[in-house]
Amino acid sequence: MKLQHDFASFIFLLLSILCVTDGCHDGRAALLNFKSSLADHSNRWSSWQGQNCCSRFGIRCSDLLHAIAVNLRNPNPDSFILNINSQLVSTSDSKTSTAVQGTISPSLFSLHHLRYLDLSFKDFMFSKLPTGFSNLTRLTYLSLENAMFSDSITTQFANLTSLRWLDLSCSLKIVDESSISYNLTSSLRVTGGLLSSYIYFGHISSSNLDWLWGLRNLRELRLSGVDPSKASQSSKWAEPLSILSDLRLLHLSNCGVFGMVPVNQSQLHLHSPRMDFNSLASAIPKELANLTALSVLDLSSANLHGSIPFLPQLQELYVGNNLDIAINLSSMFAVPWTHLERLDIQSTQVIGSIPASFTNTTSLVQFTARNCGIQGSVLSSMANLSEKIS
Ligand SMILES: *[C@@H]1O[C@H](CO)[C@@H](O)[C@H](O)[C@H]1NC(C)=O
Ligand SMILES: *[C@@H]1O[C@H](CO)[C@@H](O)[C@H](O)[C@H]1NC(C)=O
Ligand SMILES: *[C@@H]1O[C@H](CO)[C@@H](O)[C@H](O)[C@H]1NC(C)=O
Ligand SMILES: *[C@@H]1O[C@H](CO)[C@@H](O)[C@H](O)[C@H]1NC(C)=O
Ligand SMILES: *[C@@H]1O[C@H](CO)[C@@H](O)[C@H](O)[C@H]1NC(C)=O
Ligand SMILES: *[C@@H]1O[C@H](CO)[C@@H](O)[C@H](O)[C@H]1NC(C)=O
Ligand SMILES: *[C@@H]1O[C@H](CO)[C@@H](O)[C@H](O)[C@H]1NC(C)=O
Ligand SMILES: *[C@@H]1O[C@H](CO)[C@@H](O)[C@H](O)[C@H]1NC(C)=O
Repeated sequence: MKLQHDFASFIFLLLSILCVTDGCHDGRAALLNFKSSLADHSNRWSSWQGQNCCSRFGIRCSDLLHAIAVNLRNPNPDSFILNINSQLVSTSDSKTSTAVQGTISPSLFSLHHLRYLDLSFKDFMFSKLPTGFSNLTRLTYLSLENAMFSDSITTQFANLTSLRWLDLSCSLKIVDESSISYNLTSSLRVTGGLLSSYIYFGHISSSNLDWLWGLRNLRELRLSGVDPSKASQSSKWAEPLSILSDLRLLHLSNCGVFGMVPVNQSQLHLHSPRMDFNSLASAIPKELANLTALSVLDLSSANLHGSIPFLPQLQELYVGNNLDIAINLSSMFAVPWTHLERLDIQSTQVIGSIPASFTNTTSLVQFTARNCGIQGSVLSSMANLSEKIS
């Protein structure tokens, strides 16, 4: 019995190898079409010459030789900083951009078996988001991060009900050196400003979030730079987010969102929402305390006011550059935040001094509090903050 079984396996293996050398079933022409519509200046796709599309760089096939994964993420996207004159400076070595450039051939959307598609940091030259994405209903992972599209989101993704990871971000956080001035007349002195900015890689808007209603399997949703500002004028704009009960990660940075932080008790798994660089003009909701999975909260530069509620489940809290947030460290740390490791309150209004009870939060390793008007001296016991006190 065992021998027979092994023999059968051997024959199967042999057949598979023979088939594999013949390349993938349905995808070869489609993938070659897709490739031929893009200019690969950095020559990363030179391995695409052979016949066997399943062994090509970035492509993975099922046992039945259907292309199921296409990962063409640009591994070395160009990086930028803002210099002291607020000019955008590329920090990449090469003179030409590393991004593959062109438009998406519709043949890509005939790969019905695709479950994974990553086209991030391509340069699609401000073309529209192709409607063909709605044919790829088996996708569980889709990233079009910073891929230079110019369009509004309507129904292109609404049918992709298997999606668990979706990244449509069209802006990227960069280091902002423009507000730093080095005072060379005395010993080195650095004056910090906002320290980061966002640049856009395309323009994507969304006049409402109704396309999210069907995407109930989403675990990670990244929409940084996407502009739903028209939607956010309605108090119910975030309702489609609130039904995503599996959501762990939500990025709505630099979205031009106005109004409340969209929280809902039903988001029991929400772990790391980011809503920095918005104009929320609201207070931090104390209901966040009920989201027990919450761990990293980034609400920097979000035009918030009021105080900081007690959120002892947090490991990282970033609320810097909210000039109207007033912080009384005595009441904020009256009870230790037992998990807190990183706290950024720079450019907020701190009332009074750092209380002795602050050091009861022993988990803290990084505390950034420049430009807060803190009175009194830094406690000697704070020397145990291992990374940075600024
Ligand atoms: C997308 O699906 C529609 C309907 O099933 C079909 O008519 C169309 O040809 C498909 N598009 C592509 C690019 O495969
Ligand atoms: C989404 O699916 C529905 C039902 O399967 C279909 O009627 C509709 O045309 C699809 N929408 C898009 C944008 O493909
Ligand atoms: C630079 O240092 C000098 C000497 O300490 C001081 O007088 C001056 O105000 C400083 N300039 C700035 C911009 O901080
Ligand atoms: C939370 O979401 C549910 C639907 O999942 C909705 O009925 C409820 O009104 C929402 N609550 C808030 C405060 O938005
Ligand atoms: C947290 O949830 C409990 C029970 O669901 C509720 O009674 C309480 O009001 C909630 N707290 C906040 C701050 O929303
Ligand atoms: C800060 O909070 C503490 C404790 O709640 C309180 O005693 C103190 O008066 C507050 N300080 C200011 C300046 O409001
Ligand atoms: C917190 O610190 C204060 C002052 O250092 C101390 O008296 C108090 O017992 C501490 N409380 C807790 C809960 O550790
Ligand atoms: C710093 O931490 C060490 C051990 O981790 C502890 O023994 C010491 O008392 C702490 N110092 C202060 C000032 O809290």
